[in-house]
Amino acid sequence: MKLLVILLFSGLITGCGGNSSRSLPSKLLLVSFDGFRADYLQNYEFPHLQNFIKEGVLVEHVKNVFITKTFPNHYSIVTGLYEESHGIVANSMYDVITKKHFSDFDDKDPFWWNEAVPIWVTNQLQENRSSAAAMWPGTDVPIHNTTPSYFMNYSSSVSFEERLNNITMWLMNSNPPVTFATLYWEEPDASGHKYGPEDKENMYRVLKEVDDLIGELVHKLKVLGLWENLNVIITSDHGMTQCSKDKLINLDLCIDRSSYTLVDLTPVAAVLPKINTTEVYNKLKVCNPHMNVYLKEDIPARFHYQHNDRIQPIILVADEGWTIVLNKSLPKCDHGYDNSLSSMHPFLAAHGPVFHKGYKHSTINSVDIYPMMCHILGLKPHPNNGTFGHTKCLLVDQWCINLPEAIGIVIGVLLVLTTLTCLIIIMQNRLSVPRPFSRLQLQEDDDDPLIE
Ligand SMILES: *[C@@H]1O[C@H](CO)[C@@H](O)[C@H](O)[C@H]1NC(C)=O
Ligand SMILES: *[C@@H]1O[C@H](CO)[C@@H](O)[C@H](O)[C@H]1NC(C)=O
Ligand SMILES: *[C@@H]1O[C@H](CO)[C@@H](O)[C@H](O)[C@H]1NC(C)=O
Ligand SMILES: *[C@@H]1O[C@H](CO)[C@@H](O)[C@H](O)[C@H]1NC(C)=O
Ligand SMILES: *[C@@H]1O[C@H](CO)[C@@H](O)[C@H](O)[C@H]1NC(C)=O
Ligand SMILES: *[C@@H]1O[C@H](CO)[C@@H](O)[C@H](O)[C@H]1NC(C)=O
Ligand SMILES: *[C@@H]1O[C@H](CO)[C@@H](O)[C@H](O)[C@H]1NC(C)=O
Ligand SMILES: [Zn+2]
Repeated sequence: MKLLVILLFSGLITGCGGNSSRSLPSKLLLVSFDGFRADYLQNYEFPHLQNFIKEGVLVEHVKNVFITKTFPNHYSIVTGLYEESHGIVANSMYDVITKKHFSDFDDKDPFWWNEAVPIWVTNQLQENRSSAAAMWPGTDVPIHNTTPSYFMNYSSSVSFEERLNNITMWLMNSNPPVTFATLYWEEPDASGHKYGPEDKENMYRVLKEVDDLIGELVHKLKVLGLWENLNVIITSDHGMTQCSKDKLINLDLCIDRSSYTLVDLTPVAAVLPKINTTEVYNKLKVCNPHMNVYLKEDIPARFHYQHNDRIQPIILVADEGWTIVLNKSLPKCDHGYDNSLSSMHPFLAAHGPVFHKGYKHSTINSVDIYPMMCHILGLKPHPNNGTFGHTKCLLVDQWCINLPEAIGIVIGVLLVLTTLTCLIIIMQNRLSVPRPFSRLQLQEDDDDPLIE
């Protein structure tokens, strides 16, 4: 019991004892391995990543945002906003008013990005700080007329090694210093689409390569003397789900192509009707039982995917593993589905002076990452949809109670109270020992009123 009380108090002390008097601004490197599904960590081996986690923190599931696609989710991580609020609502978009198109190959018009302010821009507005990017959607676009001080134009052919070399060089030798940096890598997303997450043999090989890259990253940071002082977050945008040739939804069987424009296809289709919207909706609604069809005004509130002109009048949401096609017979292993599906969730791991060591947490939202990063960098966050409190348990300078600790505290308090009660009872018994005749005396007292 003594041990428990000691444990309890040492827990309280380590919980409170953060180092709040850090003089230099913290530095943060945000890394994304695209399409790193959360349960890959349970189903495959990651010796380097597990070492990183052992000395840092792990969030097993990050609930990302709908639609669970690459561009929208990367922008939510760096803005803390749902897609309807940051404006990147898909990888393929069309704006009815300006008649502009957006796709992952044509993404450089700031028009699409300017509805929000990403953290690398905010970071640079503080004096004597720069940001650097070895790719990340949006980092090669002048958002609010500002790119990171150091960045690369997006190109999938630039090797991981070159991205890593350049981002560490910028972190080391820049004036004003780079305090926020991003690093992006296309795997395991590309192979996840190609093989499907259940192809153990191929995914084993691909995920081992990803783990080796994490090993290279940590090794490089150690060699350069950055490892102890740099805060590193490794996360991802979404997961991946298995596809099947039997799970196809063929729109051509239901509706004539001439009656609508398809802005985005699968697994969430964005439909812009060319004729009466109700008519298009009625045809699509009965098209396939494995597809939900929503008029824009009826999109479920939990998706936070409605209040933006770039969301089309009708959206179709395929069930997990189903592919929406136009008269084509090949399915696509994909992501983009309902963000409540755990197959769509990524994970988050972090290491560095601001993070606890060897701490595991079950879940946060991807929009919670932004307020945490602002806290680490000492930036005032823009209005956002995240909750800083959700990430407090990851940080050494924050006081948080998680469930096991709370149970420990309750048990501890009960034990202390029980002990005190026992002591009091024992003391009372001791006090009453020298009065063996008290009962007799009492009886005498009882007689008093009769005597009177
Ligand atoms: C706080 O950090 C500074 C600089 O890293 C260090 O010198 C100091 O000892 C730390 N204080 C505590 C209480 O950890
Ligand atoms: C910015 O850096 C310059 C020189 O490095 C220094 O004189 C100045 O005080 C710094 N400003 C702030 C706000 O830290
Ligand atoms: C990386 O840095 C080297 C050396 O400064 C430079 O030549 C190269 O162009 C950079 N790579 C990219 C993709 O920016
Ligand atoms: C990116 O590409 C643009 C246009 O091709 C070019 O003007 C610019 O110099 C490039 N920036 C970097 C950092 O490579
Ligand atoms: C669209 O069609 C429905 C019934 O099919 C009709 O009630 C409605 O008035 C039509 N709306 C327009 C704008 O034509
Ligand atoms: C769909 O495919 C069938 C057979 O391949 C073809 O006959 C038909 O014209 C196609 N329909 C459209 C709308 O492309
Ligand atoms: C998300 O945050 C933005 C900015 O504060 C706000 O306008 C929006 O209403 C929020 N969305 C929800 C669902 O709370
Ligand atoms: Zn992605």
